[in-house]
Amino acid sequence: MNVLMLSPGYPTDMPEFTRGLAEVGATVIGVGDQPASALTERTRHALAAYVQVGSLWNEARTLEELRAALAGRRIDRVESLWEPLMLLAARLREAFGAPGLSVADTVPYRDKEVMKQKLDAAGIRTPRHVAAHSVAECWEAAERIGFPVIVKPIAGAGSADTYRCDTPDELRDVLPRVAHVPIVSVEEFIDGEEYTFDTVTIDGQIAYYNVAWYRPRPLIARSNEWISPQVIALRDTDDAALAAGVRMGFEVIRALGFERGFTHMEWYRKADGEVVFGEVAARPPGAHQVDQMNYACDFDVFREWARAVTHGAFEARIERKYNVAMVFKRAEGQGRIHAIEGLEAINRRHGATIVWNNLSPVGARRRNWRQTLVSDGFLMLRHPDLATTLAIADEVGDQLRLLAR
Ligand SMILES: Nc1ncnc2c1ncn2[C@@H]1O[C@H](COP(=O)(O)OP(=O)(O)O)[C@@H](O)[C@H]1O
Ligand SMILES: [Mg+2]
Repeated sequence: MNVLMLSPGYPTDMPEFTRGLAEVGATVIGVGDQPASALTERTRHALAAYVQVGSLWNEARTLEELRAALAGRRIDRVESLWEPLMLLAARLREAFGAPGLSVADTVPYRDKEVMKQKLDAAGIRTPRHVAAHSVAECWEAAERIGFPVIVKPIAGAGSADTYRCDTPDELRDVLPRVAHVPIVSVEEFIDGEEYTFDTVTIDGQIAYYNVAWYRPRPLIARSNEWISPQVIALRDTDDAALAAGVRMGFEVIRALGFERGFTHMEWYRKADGEVVFGEVAARPPGAHQVDQMNYACDFDVFREWARAVTHGAFEARIERKYNVAMVFKRAEGQGRIHAIEGLEAINRRHGATIVWNNLSPVGARRRNWRQTLVSDGFLMLRHPDLATTLAIADEVGDQLRLLAR
């Protein structure tokens, strides 16, 4: 089986998925615009071949360069797990006659208005929504929907350019800030808790899923630097509080006719129990949430994803043994990290629960916390009991401090 793997070396998870493909016996042909020498030894080892193209952002040229390099070789799959390359992957599938999402199939995952229209048609509860192309249309939409509203890009990511407006005055302040966004989505603001529903799906059937809880909601986490955001992969996905959200996830896969691979959904649960759909991507979540799934079940979902897309099978036993918390830290101050406080005490009390210390070390430059959820690194910890997991995660949030100057 010949698999084209787009950007096998970047971002961080891609080498793992590439390794998974090799481990299930695929002939993996990497396609990237980095030189092969920039790939890690392990990634190079997993690849049967590597085609370096001029730029992955130039679709027409990438296709020409690939045609020349592949010289008629049959391509069975084209895989990409990185959002900006979803459409390129679809074009290449069409060009090489490979199965999987076509360009038309991919659009609902990239355009949030088309996504919601499709889901509305299937009877799935989405926030009331309007796509607005101008300031006047934003005002009209807000009037029709009623305050509070959310204003966000129609093809956004990572809560960028996303605002909650409670009043017309707030909308007036926000509109100039989204002036550079070509089309915005104006939505009913849904108050509630926010969760993920992540799947490995095989020909429309969900083979594995993961539910994670964002504490607090991503927009709040992204708007307040002092917060240490948490993502909690939940052990008890049969909890009655999650049932309607999980059911909705299954309905979304059916409504969109997803083929094979990872999906990542977000959904909201209101205080009255109503669940509302957020968004769906035809790729896994980022920020090491795939590793988090592995720590929850002690399996290798990178490899099982590969088995799913190449052989239509998921063989690992799914036993959720732990709740797994990631607590992302933002250093206090600017510049370089010069001290990490509270880590020793946390290790003393909870060392056995901590599975990964990913904190930036002393001496490292601070990262931009608005651009990366990972911020200045994270602690990942796990425990079978949810209340205990949350208590330790909160302790890490409160008592672990990175200081920069
Ligand atoms: N209709 C909405 N009601 C409440 N919060 C929302 C709504 N739309 C977006 N948000 C908030 O903004 C965040 C980012 O929006 P989302 O649609 O997930 O876009 P992306 O993650 O691609 O930037 C969400 O995680 C949520 O916290
Ligand atoms: Mg989102």
